[in-house]
Amino acid sequence: AAKLIIDTDPGVDDAFAIALAAVSEDVDLIGVTTVFGNVPLAATTANARRVLALCGREDVPVAAGAERPLVHPHPHRARYAHGADGLSGRSSALPEPSRAPETADAVSLLASLLDAAREPVTIAPIGPLTNIAALLAAHPGVRSKIDRLVIMGGALGHGNTTAAGEFNIWSDPEAAHRVLSGGDVPAVLVPMDLTYRCAVDLGWLGTLESSGPLGAALRALTPDYQEHYRKALGWDGLVLHDAVAVAEAIKPGILVTEALPVQVECGFGPARGATVVDNRRPELRADTEGQPAGATVDVAMETDLDGLRAFVLDRLAMGRS
Ligand code: BDR
Ligand code: CA
Repeated sequence: AAKLIIDTDPGVDDAFAIALAAVSEDVDLIGVTTVFGNVPLAATTANARRVLALCGREDVPVAAGAERPLVHPHPHRARYAHGADGLSGRSSALPEPSRAPETADAVSLLASLLDAAREPVTIAPIGPLTNIAALLAAHPGVRSKIDRLVIMGGALGHGNTTAAGEFNIWSDPEAAHRVLSGGDVPAVLVPMDLTYRCAVDLGWLGTLESSGPLGAALRALTPDYQEHYRKALGWDGLVLHDAVAVAEAIKPGILVTEALPVQVECGFGPARGATVVDNRRPELRADTEGQPAGATVDVAMETDLDGLRAFVLDRLAMGRS
């Protein structure tokens, strides 16, 4: 099975995404690295370990990474959506992990897993891109060992944290710029425009809950998150952003992508953290008035929405927990 590493800030949708990879037998989850984001690093690391324990996957090493953005620290956390502990206040209901986090940090674990791999590895970054930017800077040689980055992040339309900024990119725009502007590591960007369209409803959640212990445990993590999305969507459902990206990492091609020039706004104006995607007709894209055009990134634009929802549900329902 193809090897996968998840870089994450759990987070309710991160928990779903980790579980999806942990129970999918056609992918070999070889490591999980954590980053600040939805809640501080100590909580994201504890949550990642709890989710792996829930899935019976404590064979997977977890290493903690960045506590703050590369350049500009800021206090924002997404507690409004994920609850104070990152899992709707329910993290203590998950099994207590028995495996300690690695003593190595996230960048060291990423570098050593990539070094040791015989075939290129997929990395799914589903939080701020700080660890990945640090990895590429400190270990430029590992680029050839990365099959592709499947990143949850960015927005073609409006953002979710600010009018223009999607949370993962807005949390560390300089890191996102460094990862996306190189053009030398193949990247798929799964923006919130598409993840919103994949939102699941109460019927989907009910089927998940009754599918078995794993489904019931994941459903129990959703109350605060559901409150937030009732407002964000205008109906009673959830957006499982990170699970959409991890579905693509597990099953390449489940999302339809388009190669488009992408730039990250790192200025301090209202568009900080925006992903500027040049989605003009190809004939016009060279027309940049002397401005840089941006490196080409595969942007996820479409999917079979019901097929995607069924894929995630079927996998989680088969979970061994
Ligand atoms: C992203 O922000 C986080 O709150 C979610 O976990 C997801 O990774 C969506 O914008
Ligand atoms: Ca996340």
